[in-house]
Amino acid sequence: MSTITADHNGKPIVPNHPTIPFVEGDGVGSEVTRSMLRVVDEAVKRAYDERRSIRWKEVLAGKKAYDQTGEWLPKATMEAFRQYLIGIKGPLTTPIGDGIRSLNVALRQGLDLYVCLRPVRWFEGVVSPVKRPQDVDITVFRENTEDIYAGIEWDANTDKAKKFLCFLQEEMGVTKIRFPETSAFGVKPVSREGTERLIRAAARYTIETGRKHLTLVHKGNIMKFTEGGFKRWGYELIQREFAAELNNGTLIVNDCIADAFLQNALLKPEAYSVVATLNLNGDYISDMLAAQVGGIGISPGANINYTTGHAIFEATHGTAPDIAGKNMANPCSLILSATMLLDYIGWSEAARIIEKALAHCFTQGKATADLARFMPQGKPLSTSDFTQELLSHITL
Ligand code: NAI
Repeated sequence: MSTITADHNGKPIVPNHPTIPFVEGDGVGSEVTRSMLRVVDEAVKRAYDERRSIRWKEVLAGKKAYDQTGEWLPKATMEAFRQYLIGIKGPLTTPIGDGIRSLNVALRQGLDLYVCLRPVRWFEGVVSPVKRPQDVDITVFRENTEDIYAGIEWDANTDKAKKFLCFLQEEMGVTKIRFPETSAFGVKPVSREGTERLIRAAARYTIETGRKHLTLVHKGNIMKFTEGGFKRWGYELIQREFAAELNNGTLIVNDCIADAFLQNALLKPEAYSVVATLNLNGDYISDMLAAQVGGIGISPGANINYTTGHAIFEATHGTAPDIAGKNMANPCSLILSATMLLDYIGWSEAARIIEKALAHCFTQGKATADLARFMPQGKPLSTSDFTQELLSHITL
C-alpha cells in the first residue's frame, strides 16, 4: 500500500513509501519543481535511510496539460489529488479566454480546501526591510472559501446590477448607496459553519504545536454581521470546544481589528503567533508578513481541508514569465512548501534537515539573484547551482 489515507479526525495515515502527486507548474515551474524534488528526496534519505521514501507521481495541470490533453485541468489530476490525499504544485498560468477563471481556485473548490495556511518566519542572512525580522514567526490561517472572494459581483451599468439595486432599494429599504446608478455590487457571504471549521483548525494547530496564542483578526467594528459574526462565532466555538485548553493555559485567544493588526504586526510582531482571519484580510496579511521576512520568493503555503485531510502544498509566487527558462528562479517557496508537507505527514526530521541547510546557505550569502542582490556578501547563484549548494549541506 502506498496511498496516504486519513483517520476519522482527518489526520493522515502515512505508509513508509507513499505516492504523492505533483504538478510541475508553468513558467519557472519546471525549474523550481526539479529542485524541490531533488532536495526532498535527499533529505528524506538522510533522515530515514531506505526506510522511507516518496514515490512522486506527476499529474498534469496548466499549460503542459493543455498542450498534451487539450484541457487545463484534466479530470485525472483532480482524481489523483482526491485519491492520494496530499499533493504539491508549482505555479500555474491563469488561462485566458477559457471557462476556468483560475486553476488554483478550481483545485481549492474541487477539494473544498478551506484553509489557506501560510507560516511566516525569517531565515538568518535574508535581508528584510524591518529592523528585527527574527521577531516574525506567525502562522496565518486564512479562510479560503467565503467572503468577497466568492466571486458574486456585478459590473456597474449592467442589467444584473440594476436588478440588484432595485431589490436593495425596493425590497430591503436600502437608502445608503451614495451613487446608485453608477455602482458595481459585490456580495460578502460569511457563515457560522465556514468560520467554525477555520477557527477549529487554527485552535487545534495552536495547541498541537505548543504555540499557545491564537488571534482572531477581523473588521467587525464596521462589518458587524460578517466580520463581527466571524469574531462572535469564533469565541463561542472556542468556549464550547476548547474550554479545557483555555483553563489549563495551552490556548490563549484574543482578537484584533484588521487595520490595527497590520500596524501591530510591523511594530511588535512578537505579540502574534497563530492568526485566524477571513479571506480578504488573510490575503493582505500574508503578503505583508511575507515582505517582512524577505518576500514571496521564500514564502511557502498550503491549502488544506482538515476534516477530510486533503491538502495541496504550493509555491506562493506565480509563473514568473520574465525569468522562465533562464535558470534564475528561486526554488525556496516550493522547497519550504515541501517542508510543510513533510511536517503534515509527520516526517519532521526531514523538514528540519532542509531548513537547516537553507539557513547555512543564506548565512553564507548563497542564494538566487532575487535574494543575493540584497545580501552584503551575496553570491547570486543559478537555480541549479543553488540546489547543488543546498544538497551539499543536506548530505554533509
Ligand atoms: P509572479 O509571481 O509570477 O511574478 C512577479 C515578480 O516576481 C516577477 O518579477 C518575477 O520574476 C518574480 N518572481 C516570482 N517568482 C519568483 C521566483 N521563484 N524566483 C525569483 N523571482 C520570482 O506574478 P505575475 O507576474 O503577476 O503572474 C504571472 C502568472 O502567474 C500569471 O498567469 C498569474 O495568474 C500566475 N500566478 C499563479 C499563481 C499560482 O499558481 N499560485 C500565483 C500568482 C500568479
